[in-house]
Amino acid sequence: MSEPPSTGVASPLASAQPRASRLRRLHALTGVVPVGVFLVGHLWTNARALSGQASFDTAVSQITRLPYLPLIETFGIFVPLAFHALYGVKLALGGERNVLRYPDGRNWMWLAQRATGLVTLAFLAWHLLELRVPKALGTLGADAFYPTLCARLSSTTHGLPLVALAYLVGIGASVLHLANGLWALSTSYVSTASPRAQRVVAGAVAVFGLALFLVGANTALYFATGVRLLAIDGGAGSSTCEAPAPPRHP
Ligand code: HEM
Repeated sequence: MSEPPSTGVASPLASAQPRASRLRRLHALTGVVPVGVFLVGHLWTNARALSGQASFDTAVSQITRLPYLPLIETFGIFVPLAFHALYGVKLALGGERNVLRYPDGRNWMWLAQRATGLVTLAFLAWHLLELRVPKALGTLGADAFYPTLCARLSSTTHGLPLVALAYLVGIGASVLHLANGLWALSTSYVSTASPRAQRVVAGAVAVFGLALFLVGANTALYFATGVRLLAIDGGAGSSTCEAPAPPRHP
């Protein structure tokens, strides 16, 4: 008889091999805390752009002034992110692709989790090269993030807003990856829960994912067009994202 279809989405309790099981648990854990927590905080902080450059710069400088920031960034963001990404690529390339053979919802989620993971990784590499690496090299000051984001997201190539589209795809992929991962984690830990309870969890995760996507997409659209679809300060004040200044080079 053939093997039952695997969901393939991180299922930390399922593995019979202790070491692989431990790594999978760690992979699932790092996806939620701190990488997932970082994504929520990051998109939330970036939404301060909707209130103008002064508000955005204040948010950035509040983060910059945190004590032990290099340690927090290294062990709270980059190390867990690197482990989650590298082990995630190993899982993505290694799993059995059984969607066509068993085309049920869980296996589509399996495929979606791998696809969104790879798209997020590509977006992240590009995003860090655009902002974080120049900051580390001293060629882009933190006060130049806002005008740089305005200039980059509002740019077009052959009439197409490719950078803004890349941001929308990156935000969509990373949020879907997080929401799908949370759902998979919840089903693996509470597999004994009733179908109704599982539907409630799935609904809650979907609402969370949609809300987070709207927060991130709203900021990206603001940087791209200067228009605030969902204003966070009652819509007061005019756009400050219309005449971007060039990035600062020391
Ligand atoms: C509206 C969309 C986004 C904006 C405006 C934005 C903006 C920024 C800025 C300005 C920085 C540099 C921060 C600093 O070095 O002080 C940054 C860094 C970073 N971004 Fe984003 N980002 C967005 C979406 C995303 C998404 C979707 C992800 C995840 C896939 C992400 C992951 C990161 C990471 C890991 C860093 C480096 C950590 C850090 O420096 O705090 N960003 N982003």
